[in-house]
Amino acid sequence: MTERTFSIIKPDATRRNLTGKVNAVIEDAGLRIVAQKRIRMSRAQAEKFYEVHKERPFFGELVDFMTSAPVVVQVLEGDNAVARYREVMGATNPAQAAEGTIRKLYAESVGENSVHGSDSLENAKIEIAQFFTDDEIVG
Ligand code: CMP
Repeated sequence: MTERTFSIIKPDATRRNLTGKVNAVIEDAGLRIVAQKRIRMSRAQAEKFYEVHKERPFFGELVDFMTSAPVVVQVLEGDNAVARYREVMGATNPAQAAEGTIRKLYAESVGENSVHGSDSLENAKIEIAQFFTDDEIVG
């Protein structure tokens, strides 16, 4: 089934000029980038986006990191895009990520792990709506 998922290229990757390299892995995996913009996330946006993690010990660090440099927010489209992108990203902890995945190739640590991808279709819809209007998504 064709789905859309939400992706973020995180500050550790934009800082190292890896946007194009990450996008190449995404496109080589058969996912289409149907919307994309480079933004500086505000604290309010980051706190809202990661609300489910607000009780976690790393929440403050996570918000600091996500607002520390530009990010690239994206909508990816393709067959089973939610699960497919999670495969392409690899495990949250790059030390456990499979060969060829974005995190194995580029991530620096569990916190600075280069990319985010939605964990369910339901969350993908919520996350896409936080950053994109319908007319910004061109499939
Ligand atoms: P993400 O998929 O964006 O969703 C939650 C994020 O929390 C996750 O990627 C990691 O970057 C971050 N995270 C998870 N565990 C830790 C941790 N132990 N320390 C710092 N950040 C973490």
